[in-house]
Amino acid sequence: MQLLRAIRVASLALTSFPLGIHAQVVTSNQNLTLRFFQSDQQDSCDYANSNRALTFTTSSIPVLGQCFDFVDLFSGNATQGFINQTRNQGQNAWGEAGIHWQLENTDTFDPQANYSRVLYRQHITNPTTDEQKPGHYADRQVTIYGGPKCTEADPNSNTTLFPWYGFSCWSEDKGSCGTLPYKIASFYIRAGKDEQSQGRMGTCWVFAECGAATSLLLSSRAMVGAFISASLAIWLSM
Ligand SMILES: *[C@@H]1O[C@H](CO)[C@@H](O)[C@H](O)[C@H]1NC(C)=O
Ligand SMILES: *[C@@H]1O[C@H](CO)[C@@H](O)[C@H](O)[C@H]1NC(C)=O
Ligand SMILES: *[C@@H]1O[C@H](CO)[C@@H](O)[C@H](O)[C@H]1NC(C)=O
Ligand SMILES: *[C@@H]1O[C@H](CO)[C@@H](O)[C@H](O)[C@H]1NC(C)=O
Ligand SMILES: *[C@@H]1O[C@H](CO)[C@@H](O)[C@H](O)[C@H]1NC(C)=O
Repeated sequence: MQLLRAIRVASLALTSFPLGIHAQVVTSNQNLTLRFFQSDQQDSCDYANSNRALTFTTSSIPVLGQCFDFVDLFSGNATQGFINQTRNQGQNAWGEAGIHWQLENTDTFDPQANYSRVLYRQHITNPTTDEQKPGHYADRQVTIYGGPKCTEADPNSNTTLFPWYGFSCWSEDKGSCGTLPYKIASFYIRAGKDEQSQGRMGTCWVFAECGAATSLLLSSRAMVGAFISASLAIWLSM
């Protein structure tokens, strides 16, 4: 991966140089916000009206994907943290890399409750290009799981798998939301454009249902594998 990243950084540097500085400025202060609601909570599915909800925020674009265990995260004492990924940067990278995260309203967290509704917001207020508008690939991608440690395994059964749900587009200002058919157990954040979508065809995800349990007949592992080979093919052909 280190090598792949180095190749990718090099090719990005070559291809995106004219826009690089501008893109950096626009994305550096860009929050990704996830809000979680219990299945019977009445809050509206709107970022502006839900600031009392259990909230996770990051302004970082991770170098590596990172899994967050739902109960561990929200029942811990910390309301902010930094996952240091500096050593995972390629050789030519500079500065501090990692994930700064922040939590809000953890005092409302009930570890027994069924948090099955999510509001996702990743929005650029004044987009300067079409690529920064809702419906285009965003800086990070989020996937949500019913199993601990970002797995599809149903924690209450040895034989069932849960689908996972993905968001990877810039959202509208109010965000977008969904109700999952299970109690959320974990979520995963990775760089969107950078790591995955360079070589990906088709559209970004708005609460997309994926995984072995869905009719797509693709396991998440197989899909990730397909993304990596597609990206690799494009890198190699550049
Ligand atoms: C990003 O989120 C944090 C935590 O909620 C907040 O303090 C900060 O003002 C937000 N930044 C922007 C640009 O919205
Ligand atoms: C959380 O805070 C409580 C009380 O301050 C302390 O007893 C406990 O050890 C802390 N837990 C962790 C994981 O730091
Ligand atoms: C992150 O790790 C690097 C080395 O791996 C270290 O130099 C740096 O101080 C760390 N940053 C923080 C905030 O801990
Ligand atoms: C899952 O399998 C393990 C060992 O095979 C067993 O001990 C456990 O009771 C099973 N759990 C459920 C929920 O079926
Ligand atoms: C949690 O809520 C979802 C959505 O309402 C529901 O489908 C699921 O069965 C619930 N899970 C549990 C463990 O209560």
